[in-house]
Amino acid sequence: VTVEIPRTPPEAARDHLTPTARAALGRSAEERIHLIRSGSWIPYPRAQQIRERLRWVFDQPPSQRMTGLTLSGPTNNGKTTIIRAFMAEMNGHVTAADAERRDYLYIETPPFPSASMLFTAILTAAGDLKAQKGTMTQKMFRVQHILPQIGLRMLFLDEIHNVLAGSQKQTEVFLNTLKSLSNHLRLPVVLIGTENAVHVLRTDAQVLNRFPTVELPYWPSDASFHQLVRAVLSTFPLQRPPRLTAAALQRLHKVSGGALGGVVQVLQRAAALAIKDGSEELTPKFLEAAEV
Ligand SMILES: Nc1ncnc2c1ncn2[C@@H]1O[C@H](COP(=O)(O)OP(=O)(O)OP(=O)(O)O)[C@@H](O)[C@H]1O
Ligand SMILES: [Mg+2]
Repeated sequence: VTVEIPRTPPEAARDHLTPTARAALGRSAEERIHLIRSGSWIPYPRAQQIRERLRWVFDQPPSQRMTGLTLSGPTNNGKTTIIRAFMAEMNGHVTAADAERRDYLYIETPPFPSASMLFTAILTAAGDLKAQKGTMTQKMFRVQHILPQIGLRMLFLDEIHNVLAGSQKQTEVFLNTLKSLSNHLRLPVVLIGTENAVHVLRTDAQVLNRFPTVELPYWPSDASFHQLVRAVLSTFPLQRPPRLTAAALQRLHKVSGGALGGVVQVLQRAAALAIKDGSEELTPKFLEAAEV
């Protein structure tokens, strides 16, 4: 079946756009392409649920046993973006008087599971200029000292699949370090990474219940995907509404593998082509051209 999105009369040509996109319609082609490529936050349902869950973890009263979270999902699918959006939102809640406080730190898991490198990463993020100095015990001591000082309430550890680069023993030591950090500082820790890492984490019962998993799977090829595409396109300042067929959407799903990052990239290129071409109308032909 080929379901064409009906051609809209000129006066309704902008109705599908977000206010920000509509406001940008007067800009030059170049500026609009730049804007499209800069990307905007698309508030899809799963992302909103995960942000609420993060807030729930963040707001928990301090206890001997803090519950963190694992955000697991395939690559290029929006995990890090959700965390960044959450942090940006929380930043809005920090008043000037709190400037020295840090509600959360975001770090990447070191390239292999080394507790010493973990401490260095945490210290660096916390602003310790001598983050690399000292023995592992000294670093641990500084971490335990600095984090309560800055009022840290949540720690994000992205790229947790890097633990896979170590031996089973090294991974175990690394996870124990994290657990003890979380216990001592009464700090919820959020792990972010691909599913294969989560598989390893699941073999440890303590990790399993301290960091329950929420998943961010690839998009299925159904109505929700169509809605996602519509939401992305609503942020693109093109003079005419897009005209995409069900077949084109199905093809886009296949090309992107249902990965949000892939979808956004193809749509961005296609939109740029439609602007450069002067037609300003995103049709299946531009989607196909954008695959190259
Ligand atoms: N909510 C969103 N709104 C708009 N675009 C998004 C959104 N989430 C992700 N994207 C797009 O998808 C791309 C990939 O997202 P992100 O880097 O968050 O994926 P990831 O799951 O962390 O991938 P990896 O596992 O490789 O680190 C982003 O660069 C951005 O273009
Ligand atoms: Mg990421």
